[in-house]
Amino acid sequence: MLNIKNVNQYYGGSHILRDVSLQAHTGKVTVILGRNGVGKTTLLKSLMGLVPIKTGSIELEGKAIQDATPYARARAGIGFVPQGREIFARLTVEENLRMGLAYKSGSTPIPAELYELFPVLKQMLHRRGGDLSGGQQQQLAIARALAAKPKLLVLDEPTEGIQPSIIKDIGRVIRMLADRGDMAIVLVEQYYDFARELADDYVVMERGEVVAQGLGKDMEANGIRKLVAI
Ligand SMILES: Nc1ncnc2c1ncn2[C@@H]1O[C@H](COP(=O)(O)OP(=O)(O)OP(=O)(O)O)[C@@H](O)[C@H]1O
Ligand SMILES: [Mg+2]
Repeated sequence: MLNIKNVNQYYGGSHILRDVSLQAHTGKVTVILGRNGVGKTTLLKSLMGLVPIKTGSIELEGKAIQDATPYARARAGIGFVPQGREIFARLTVEENLRMGLAYKSGSTPIPAELYELFPVLKQMLHRRGGDLSGGQQQQLAIARALAAKPKLLVLDEPTEGIQPSIIKDIGRVIRMLADRGDMAIVLVEQYYDFARELADDYVVMERGEVVAQGLGKDMEANGIRKLVAI
């Protein structure tokens, strides 16, 4: 589904991503692990077209997208849940969900399924985004990304600052979405246990480079916990 090959990215003179290559497959959760500042968010922003890459290629279903606008990438089927959630605080929950449909035709309804995945959103439909708890905002950010029915869902540290019960709910939803078999999921995570539980495949980054990768079930045996312990 997703094939990232030899991507290099710079902020000014700093070489941030160094020949990063990875793949993600439909029906699977690919977890990207790495400590603070190793370039995880920069990689996702490069994937979304929010920062330009210098060299390398990004293919979605075999089509090169590295020169496409963020809008075109969303249309091509990538849903993005940014780090820090980026909920519109002054818009209602319903309006935030509609933002996820911004590039669809005006009459596209919000899929009712989102309220089954996250029942709390239905109860809070007319509340402002800014009035939700951190965990509720995270669920809203995921639902907003799912509204347009993406083929690839990309999440940047969804457990950051969230209470354990909601982390569990989010984990269950991610697993269920992958198991349905019509979506690939890329999950950036620093919380090892959550990553281990969900990973079908894992990738570890250090200083802008991929330093390890393999099957999720081998993470423990391969000593990945030590590589990412903070
Ligand atoms: N807009 C920017 N301009 C210049 N340097 C930046 C910019 N954004 C990030 N960086 C630098 O790029 C490097 C990678 O940052 P990035 O945010 O991708 O890391 P990360 O792995 O997502 O970290 P975290 O786990 O803290 O979210 C860091 O050294 C950071 O200081
Ligand atoms: Mg980050």
